[in-house]
Amino acid sequence: MSKKKVAIFISGGGSNMLQLLDSMQGTQAASPVLVVSNDPNAAGLARAAQRGVATGAVDHKPFGQDRAAFEAKISDLLAPYQPDIICLAGFMRILSADFVAVWAGKILNIHPSLLPKYKGLHTHARAIKAGDAEAGCSVHQVTADLDDGPILGQAKLSIQPADTPESLSQRVLRLEHKLYPAVLTRFVRDDLRPVFITG
Ligand code: GAR
Repeated sequence: MSKKKVAIFISGGGSNMLQLLDSMQGTQAASPVLVVSNDPNAAGLARAAQRGVATGAVDHKPFGQDRAAFEAKISDLLAPYQPDIICLAGFMRILSADFVAVWAGKILNIHPSLLPKYKGLHTHARAIKAGDAEAGCSVHQVTADLDDGPILGQAKLSIQPADTPESLSQRVLRLEHKLYPAVLTRFVRDDLRPVFITG
């Protein structure tokens, strides 16, 4: 089995990205080739570089509504690395149907809710407001529809009476750090059986 080349897209601190990098270290199945951000100042870029991973950024702001032009620049960054898999890890831009079609079946995303519940933003506040007993995170294959696509793993925990969106977000993030590497480890072996974790 040839080593799968993994690109990781981030927008912020990149704590999930770091967990993915750790999970690939010393394995034969996958290696990180590039970390990309839409924010040149994303803290995760320096963290990836410290670990010897190539980084690149395309600031989305100058492109305004021109998603195709922004994504063309992203594609230019990716081209020399020829990734087999793209992991969205806190990447806060919506990818167009055209971009997703080029990478069909090869893009994974982590989302901080128990999908199909709470697509989009403010997931933890929405779960608390709804009175849900459980919250969690999902890893799924990316399709043209936002936070949709086949689910490859979910991790969940109980919402406590004292939970705030912030406390819940921190607790779920710790589960994200377990779930995403577990899913990627299977995915690089073409194993699409979903991973389930209870925190
Ligand atoms: C994570 O909680 C991730 O699930 C979320 O952003 C955070 C990034 O944290 N992603 C989304 O909301 C995507 N819609 P990180 O930069 O520390 O990995």
